[in-house]
Amino acid sequence: PRAIYLSRHGESEWNVTGQLGGDPNLTPRGRRYAHALNAFIMAETKQYAASQPWSEDDGDAPPTVEGALPLVWTSQLRRTRQTVAHIPTINMCWRALNEIDAGVCEGLTYASVAESMPDVAAARKADKLRYRYPGGESYVDVLTRLEPVILELERQRGPVLIVAHNAVIRGIYAYLMNKTQAGCPSIDIPLHTVFKLTTRAYGAEEQRFPLDV
Ligand code: F6P
Repeated sequence: PRAIYLSRHGESEWNVTGQLGGDPNLTPRGRRYAHALNAFIMAETKQYAASQPWSEDDGDAPPTVEGALPLVWTSQLRRTRQTVAHIPTINMCWRALNEIDAGVCEGLTYASVAESMPDVAAARKADKLRYRYPGGESYVDVLTRLEPVILELERQRGPVLIVAHNAVIRGIYAYLMNKTQAGCPSIDIPLHTVFKLTTRAYGAEEQRFPLDV
């Protein structure tokens, strides 16, 4: 079994105003989540290192926490990189992990989209999986660009932490938990919650850790 940790970034300035997309910074609360996430990952890693088999007879040294840290993958946006800033490991920033591109709706709130582009709001509501924002993406587009990330994830033997965004975490979660594509756009992925998925021979086991910040 191995652990895959999934999380959205900490609260961003645009989470507070309800604006879509963009490249905002974390709020003070979001920055507290970055500290809490580091503490959580260090505690998990300590346990994981202690559970690793090793043999003094083979001349092995006991596994260290540093050596047992997960790979950390983020998007290229500030809010995910700021969220992993305290975790003492090298991060890989994937463009493929960036949030769904809301095209002409980037920077708007759901309310202002509904008011100024009611056709967009209605079409998206009618088929959220396939609806592509003008100048942007659909969920199907996001799921397609996630394929290389998922392939790389499947190749890894050790733990991986992925810190990304609402639509992206929905997609990865749906894949790992064998959920249908159709249901993917409405999966609830709350902020400030770590999803720990332990993959086993048959499917994955899920634990959720809401971190109080
Ligand atoms: O509101 C946060 C956010 O990550 C936006 O940037 C993004 O457009 C949205 O969530 C995706 O969620 P939904 O597909 O439900 O609109």
